[in-house]
Amino acid sequence: MGKVILTGDRPTGKLHLGHYVGSLRRRVQLQNQGDFDRMFVFMADVQALTDNADNPEKIRQNIIEVALDYLAAGLDPEKCTLFIQSQIPELAELTTYLMNLVSVSRVQRNPTVKTEVKMRGFEGESIPLGFFCYPVSQAADITLFKATTVPAGEDQEPMLEVTRELVRRFNQIYAPVLVEPNIMLPENLTARRLPGTDGKEKMSKSLGNCIYLSDTADDVWQKVRSMYTDPEHVNLNDPGHVEGNAVFTYLDAFSTDEDFANFLPEYQNLDELKDHYRRGGLGDMKCKKFLNQVLNQFLEPMRVRRAEFEKDIPEIYNILKKGTEQAREVGAQTMDEVRKAMRIDYFNDAELIRQQAEKFAQK
Ligand code: TRP
Repeated sequence: MGKVILTGDRPTGKLHLGHYVGSLRRRVQLQNQGDFDRMFVFMADVQALTDNADNPEKIRQNIIEVALDYLAAGLDPEKCTLFIQSQIPELAELTTYLMNLVSVSRVQRNPTVKTEVKMRGFEGESIPLGFFCYPVSQAADITLFKATTVPAGEDQEPMLEVTRELVRRFNQIYAPVLVEPNIMLPENLTARRLPGTDGKEKMSKSLGNCIYLSDTADDVWQKVRSMYTDPEHVNLNDPGHVEGNAVFTYLDAFSTDEDFANFLPEYQNLDELKDHYRRGGLGDMKCKKFLNQVLNQFLEPMRVRRAEFEKDIPEIYNILKKGTEQAREVGAQTMDEVRKAMRIDYFNDAELIRQQAEKFAQK
């Protein structure tokens, strides 16, 4: 059994730095290392619709934004299969069967679902059933392609747990067809959940605290300049806190010793900068200017690539269509095995037809 990487994003908005450190950066590395048999990256529009049923146009518009972000970040359709979830009917089919293998209370206990229910104000009676079931649909996303490795943020771990349970149930009841996946978390601990520019727990479009991969250099500077730091660090000489200080959290996630050599040679590395900030005598503005340089250094090549891809939008849809066709071939193969294991392969089973004929002939 080969190593298969699969991961995706809900196309509800352009991708931001949180997506980049949380998974996109890793995906591009994985793709280029080539140390796997197959890699799939997809746009989870079905999942996006579970809490946007009344706003399909939003999803439709963001498919192309996310595709451009993927390509700009360096995902290469020659090396990884890019596809759109809703265009793979086999996913809906597998979801239906997996739903029989998990209880309502098991899904209710999923901490990610719980948080999202709160965030969306879906308390009590108003949780859409499709939204409630999305962990099962996500398990289908992963298992239809027999993914072994899912690069994702920490918040996806509960989904992977449900998926592994479903795989074990399925394989035990029917036949060993599905594969148990593992999550691959970002290696940089501080990057696992990047705070917003306002210092709030998470970068999220609804909170308006994002730096987008497609932001211009000017946008980035405006946002970095007004970033949340340490409210107690008022005067230059006040000692400062780096914990909970968004500028330093971002530097933890993005800066390298090389960046110091290039842009801030007075310091060898981030530890030295932090020490100075803690002691006092280091201004926020200097740290912000450095962060701005660090961010723009990797965003600039993405902007250039994005601008290239934007010149031929029909070709982007072509890439997605081709990827979707390739993904469907794999999905169709798995569904053949699933239907056989589940004893619902009636028309493919000549032996079944023969036995039934015999049984009724003897009546
Ligand atoms: N739930 C993921 C998110 O919100 C998106 C997603 C859907 C996904 N299906 C997946 C991620 C399968 C990894 C694997 O970002």
